[in-house]
Amino acid sequence: MLQDKKIVLGVTGSIAAYKAAELTREFVKRGAAVRVIMTGNAAEFIAPLTFQTLSSNAVHSEMYPVINDYNLAHISLAEYADIMVIAPATANIIGKIAAGIADDLLTTTVMTTRAPVLICPAMNTNMYENAIVQENIMQLTSRGYLFMEPGYGKLACRSEGQGRLPEVSDIVEEVESILTVKDLGDERIIVTAGPTREPLDPVRYITNYSSGKMGYALAIAGRRRGARVVLISGPSALTAPRGVTFVSVSSAMEMKEAVMAHLKASTIVIKAAAVADYRPATRLASKMKKQAGPLTLSLERNPDIIAEIGKKKGKRILVGFAVETENLIENARAKLIDKNMDLIVANDVTQAGAGFGYDTNIIKILDRNGGQVELPMMDKIAAADRILDRVKDIIAEKGRK
Ligand code: PMT
Repeated sequence: MLQDKKIVLGVTGSIAAYKAAELTREFVKRGAAVRVIMTGNAAEFIAPLTFQTLSSNAVHSEMYPVINDYNLAHISLAEYADIMVIAPATANIIGKIAAGIADDLLTTTVMTTRAPVLICPAMNTNMYENAIVQENIMQLTSRGYLFMEPGYGKLACRSEGQGRLPEVSDIVEEVESILTVKDLGDERIIVTAGPTREPLDPVRYITNYSSGKMGYALAIAGRRRGARVVLISGPSALTAPRGVTFVSVSSAMEMKEAVMAHLKASTIVIKAAAVADYRPATRLASKMKKQAGPLTLSLERNPDIIAEIGKKKGKRILVGFAVETENLIENARAKLIDKNMDLIVANDVTQAGAGFGYDTNIIKILDRNGGQVELPMMDKIAAADRILDRVKDIIAEKGRK
């Protein structure tokens, strides 16, 4: 979480400098305090007043401003930062940092800080591919500087290729990840998410209201905490999170196959997907025609994926979810025991703000010893973190670590 984090954002002279305004806004929206350092060239592309207004802080650009306190500006900004982000970063600033040049406020602050420095290049493709730039990036990477790869697409110079500033949402996520304690660094987590689709004919299927948000939040939170995450997702409108292995499936049978293929390598399995219990007994090859009178569909059982994992889970931690509309705790506890889970997350989908489609959830986490953690409404990433905290407790109790 970026709440109260102190971010020093370096903006350099690229047409993508205007996107740094959006980045500032996103950091501030998440509760971070942002101090912006602009190079002289950056100020040719976008006015400092934009950043001053968005960050509610003065913009820094001069090495030797007339100031009233005796902290030299670069020293105090370097010490202030929990993280430095340079976005956009030109070939010039990358070259200067690699060469040890410290001749303006941004380069001296980078040279002085002990905080992690995340560099987000944006430039013409030929410049980015230039061997000198690539060598500088390699050298800085080996010294611990962090880089994001530029994106592909149309560039301001009207060419097409790699060189676009990474998406603002991706930069924010990378900063979140860098600033998160890596307490699950030894874990390999399978997360399932979203609904399944059970086809009836080429144009119709049976499904449910799952959006995938809860499962994707678990994948994001797990990755931030250092775990290697495989996200197996049914159909969802969400974008695959950065830094996770993403497996797209459609039906329950496909989900089972994907889960079983990754099971051996996993240490934790979290089944947030809303898997259809039944599928049409036959999948018609052509569109079913309307007929007079009612229609009865014949359905057959899908495999219960989590129950199958429960039978052979070994030392893995197995977490299930329960969607209930009545007797939430009793029903969830029965599933926890029957399917050999370690934890079950119960969400009462009759409550506003809980369950399907919302950005928030209201969950109760039950364990096998009768323990129950009841949480108020919170966003799904925060809820995911609380679930992962309980997983950590169980790992500690079981003595795997
Ligand atoms: O995706 P969102 O819109 O964010 O909504 C989140 C959610 C409500 C879908 C999620 O929080 C949730 O509760 N997911 C589980 C829903 C569900 O299928 O509950 P269940 O009680 O039917 O199943 C219990 C457990 O068995 C689940 O972990 C489920 O993944 C698993 N299961 C169920 C059936 C089946 N054939 N195989 C399974 O593995």
